[in-house]
Amino acid sequence: MNVPSSSLALEVTDLNKAFGGLKVTQGVSLSIRPGERRLIIGPNGAGKTTLFNQISGDLRPNSGRIRMFGEDVTRLSPYQRAHRGLSRTYQIITLFGGDTLEHNVTLGLLGLLPSRWQMWRPLSSYRHLVTEAHRTLDSVGLLHLAGHSVSELAYGEKRRLELAMALAQKPRVLLLDEPLAGLSDGERATVKALVASISKDTTVVMIEHDMDTALDLAETVTLLNYGRVIVDGERDQVIADERTREVYLGA
Ligand SMILES: Nc1ncnc2c1ncn2[C@@H]1O[C@H](COP(=O)(O)OP(=O)(O)O)[C@@H](O)[C@H]1O
Ligand SMILES: [Mg+2]
Repeated sequence: MNVPSSSLALEVTDLNKAFGGLKVTQGVSLSIRPGERRLIIGPNGAGKTTLFNQISGDLRPNSGRIRMFGEDVTRLSPYQRAHRGLSRTYQIITLFGGDTLEHNVTLGLLGLLPSRWQMWRPLSSYRHLVTEAHRTLDSVGLLHLAGHSVSELAYGEKRRLELAMALAQKPRVLLLDEPLAGLSDGERATVKALVASISKDTTVVMIEHDMDTALDLAETVTLLNYGRVIVDGERDQVIADERTREVYLGA
């Protein structure tokens, strides 16, 4: 993968993060091309979510650099990164439980508008956002629940809502942290189809343990273990690699 760095969607260089004495990411470097589907795998505690937290800006690395489309975003806030087209879902759901689906999605859309703080504007000027929110809910089969409270949703429905909210922002780079975790077979198929339908204008980086499903979606795979990149490359090569078997497949 010999691509000039300015044409990479995401470039992570020598990223280090420790909590106390525990080194959680150790010299992690990644190069992800625009439109690529990258799967991140590794045992529990390997540092996958911590890597995402640093890419999104939720955590500051101790050292290292993160670039998006050639721009150094290492010191930018999560909000500034979102404005540059980065969107994510969390392993643990972060929706406003007491609020309606419609309002959650509308707030998600509002978060990216330059007029964000101009709340004095008449509500009618936000009507197109409500239309967009409904379109988003429809795309994940939740439109019929638009006026219901998020707290009424089943777990799988919440995960779909969270994914829809991230997609509604039309991200250039989308980080998905275990989107299939805890879902039934039927829900997994729905979310898999949803992820497969994402436009190639969006680069997708996904952490997932359900290899059967995730490998179908992935073009490239990165294996992490104890905070280090062990193997990185084309999907079939990584899966065939002896180190992958040792670390992840336990063979
Ligand atoms: N905020 C934190 N404070 C202290 N330790 C943390 C924190 N976040 C994660 N860790 C530790 O870092 C390690 C890696 O966690 P994580 O990145 O969540 O792994 P993964 O997503 O690969 O399962 C774990 O041992 C975890 O306990
Ligand atoms: Mg995790």
